[in-house]
Amino acid sequence: MPGYHVTTFGCQMNEHDSERMKGMLESLGYEERPARADADLILFNTCSIREKADERFVAHLQEARAIKRRRPETVVGVGGCWAQSVKDEVFRRFPFVDVAFGPGQVHKLAEFLTSDSLTAQGFFEFEGFTGHLPEKRAREFQGWLQISVGCNCRCAYCIVPSTRGREVSRPAAELVAEVRRMASEGVREVTLLGQNVNSYGRDLRPRASFAVLLSAIDAVEGIARIRYTSPHPKDMREDVARAHAELPAVCEHVHLPLQSGSSRILKAMRRTYGRERYLDRVRLIREHVPDVALTTDVIVGFPGETEADFRETLEVVEDVGYDGAFTFIYSPRRGTEAAQLDGRIEHAVAVERMERLVEVVQRRAHERAQRFVGRTLEVLVEGPSRTDPARLRGRTRHNKVVNFAGDARPGDLVEVRIDSATSQTLAGGQMKGGHLSATAFLPSLA
Ligand code: SAH
Ligand code: SF4
Ligand code: F3S
Repeated sequence: MPGYHVTTFGCQMNEHDSERMKGMLESLGYEERPARADADLILFNTCSIREKADERFVAHLQEARAIKRRRPETVVGVGGCWAQSVKDEVFRRFPFVDVAFGPGQVHKLAEFLTSDSLTAQGFFEFEGFTGHLPEKRAREFQGWLQISVGCNCRCAYCIVPSTRGREVSRPAAELVAEVRRMASEGVREVTLLGQNVNSYGRDLRPRASFAVLLSAIDAVEGIARIRYTSPHPKDMREDVARAHAELPAVCEHVHLPLQSGSSRILKAMRRTYGRERYLDRVRLIREHVPDVALTTDVIVGFPGETEADFRETLEVVEDVGYDGAFTFIYSPRRGTEAAQLDGRIEHAVAVERMERLVEVVQRRAHERAQRFVGRTLEVLVEGPSRTDPARLRGRTRHNKVVNFAGDARPGDLVEVRIDSATSQTLAGGQMKGGHLSATAFLPSLA
């Protein structure tokens, strides 16, 4: 049997796409190999969101070249957003690459592998959803659902519209059928994926809405948890906030990317909302789901960001009190509007702002997490704890990682009493029949 090895960079959409690549390769008779050096087909599913993502990937690619020098028959493939953004240039810069394809062309990889021609080829037109390919799930109880591809926004810093193209939604009936199949295969938690999930369905005829899709998926028997990423604040409406309150499977967690707390910078970013409008969305969500966990993305050092602008970001982060945040230093991306802007922020200044931001994020997340201490929460078990294999690890509906003493299998939903909380993780013991289970008293390192 020929063997393949896939390395995935970037976001959850890429993780999803890689599962589909693997499923497709296995249907062609390939098997997964743990080491790159043992694979006949070495694949990279790339990301280009920030400069660091590019650099990391190129280092890996050099290793593939070394393997190919030793074994020239090895096939090297490059897919994903970086490949899409440089297109055929891949072959000029890295002549040892055999096949390159964008996120809408994963199925062409099969065509390439089964054709007689071994000349290098690139495929970059959007042709189909990777969600239509067979999948190979990393965990049998968690599934991705690609509800749309592409993005119609024009955020000035972002390369994604040029790598993933215009937004295209999949029909709701098809999505519900896919979730039914997942549920019958043991999936308990499904994560809806799109660049802007809550603009879902506007391109469909008849039009569909994200909130209605949530309720259709909520009705599928066996699905205990629904998550989604990422919504855009401009499209966050009351129907979605209500869905969190009323639909039992929709989790009490919303990832609402802020990017900046300064309306002036938000405008330059072309986010189409200002600080007040964003805060109003937060109030709306909290009105319907008071205990909701909110997380966000923030960029520091966008061109022209002054100390006063940055302080406004700090203020919003302080006032909202996020349960967690991903923080990024602005990175100019080829072909984007912001890359042409004046007012580049010195790296040292951006780093200093980042440090101040992280301090506020962590302090507020730590404070927010204390509300869970003493409560008993439902946890979906994922496996052994990473820090102490004698304990278990799982996630709450609020998307908090919990390390706990107990006995359960991956995929089980258990009750855990929370004893302590840091900004990142919770710790506790499993409850059974209203009492701590015997295993919860085992000594632990935590
Ligand atoms: N479609 C999603 C995710 C976009 S990428 C959304 O809109 O939320 C994830 C995050 O990366 C973004 O939210 C943004 O905070 C960050 N990001 C995107 N482009 C960036 C850039 N050029 N420099 C720094 N951070 C960036
Ligand atoms: Fe990029 Fe903005 Fe689209 Fe998100 S909404 S993918 S940040 S252009
Ligand atoms: Fe990266 Fe593309 Fe995702 S640029 S973050 S892999 S959409």
